[in-house]
Amino acid sequence: MIKVEGLTKRYGSTEAVKNISFEVDKGEIVGFLGPNGAGKTTTMRVLTCFLPPTEGAASIAGFDVLSETLEVKRRIGYLPETPPLYSEMSVCDYLEFVARLKGINSVDVASRVDTVIDRCNLGDFRQKLNGQLSKGYRQRVGLAQALIHDPEVLVLDEPTAGLDPKQIIEVRQLISNLSGDHTVILSTHILPEVSTTCGRVIIINEGRIEASDTPENLTARLQGHDSIWLELDGPTDQVESKLAVVPGVEQVTLADERSGRSAWQVQADKDPSVRTALAKAVIDAGWGLFEVRSVGLSLEDIFLKLTDSDPLLDYDSDETDDSEVDEGTSSK
Ligand SMILES: Nc1ncnc2c1ncn2[C@@H]1O[C@H](COP(=O)(O)OP(=O)(O)OP(=O)(O)O)[C@@H](O)[C@H]1O
Ligand SMILES: [Mg+2]
Repeated sequence: MIKVEGLTKRYGSTEAVKNISFEVDKGEIVGFLGPNGAGKTTTMRVLTCFLPPTEGAASIAGFDVLSETLEVKRRIGYLPETPPLYSEMSVCDYLEFVARLKGINSVDVASRVDTVIDRCNLGDFRQKLNGQLSKGYRQRVGLAQALIHDPEVLVLDEPTAGLDPKQIIEVRQLISNLSGDHTVILSTHILPEVSTTCGRVIIINEGRIEASDTPENLTARLQGHDSIWLELDGPTDQVESKLAVVPGVEQVTLADERSGRSAWQVQADKDPSVRTALAKAVIDAGWGLFEVRSVGLSLEDIFLKLTDSDPLLDYDSDETDDSEVDEGTSSK
């Protein structure tokens, strides 16, 4: 349904997106995950015909974004990073205006507006001026305008940005309900977003795709690695170097420090003997040991590893156990 082939986008000398390719099947909800400046918005603006590609191509339902703009726009709903709402218009008037702009029949406009107002929980705000809405409600109106023509494909740039926790849950639910009938690509740098709503994650960093897989498979790929939580009292400036030389340890990070006690996050090989060796190193140094336990790798650790400019883990490394990975869902 969405196809991107060898897409490169340059702004002057800045190469924001570097030769990326991916596909999203009908009915899929895909999370486009990456840190600030990764190229998420740029890719979405190309997909929605707001920016032409510098090189490569992109298509929606087989229609090219460059040469078949009208066909693409008919099939796509776009929630931009900052929804451009006319501040002097009421929510209801604005949605009617967008509905007409998108070519909805006059007889259907009122019912479509009612449907999206209901879906985005905007019932109490129909007559409110856009300019008087809080950020969260502006975001909902942005989502409502993206849904107004019931498009096959939704491109949502950070759909939950600026929402309070209750609204976040509602919007995630709304997006989940769209799966099956609609194809959704949403961008985020918030991990819970992808693990709760998306069937697949595309991790993008510095304009390149680092990984594309289900959240479960990404976690499975790192089964050979572990994250260990260690609490001790010892001189903070000496602990890191002492722990870093323990065999099997890859990285030591200070997680917390208060009243002489410090907590450390240790990335290591998945081998229980590493924990024993860490405990021994602490005792031998004459420090107090409060806790040492395996916490496992979260999607967050994976994201940090994959977007680290000097990654500890080579994603394509032969050491990585791919045996449990369903090749059918991996487009890397
Ligand atoms: N209009 C522009 N002119 C020049 N450079 C731009 C422009 N828009 C984006 N960039 C650059 O392109 C790169 C990718 O930006 P983009 O907005 O696509 O990132 P993003 O992944 O959406 O980031 P964020 O999470 O902060 O929204 C950045 O280096 C950014 O500075
Ligand atoms: Mg962005």
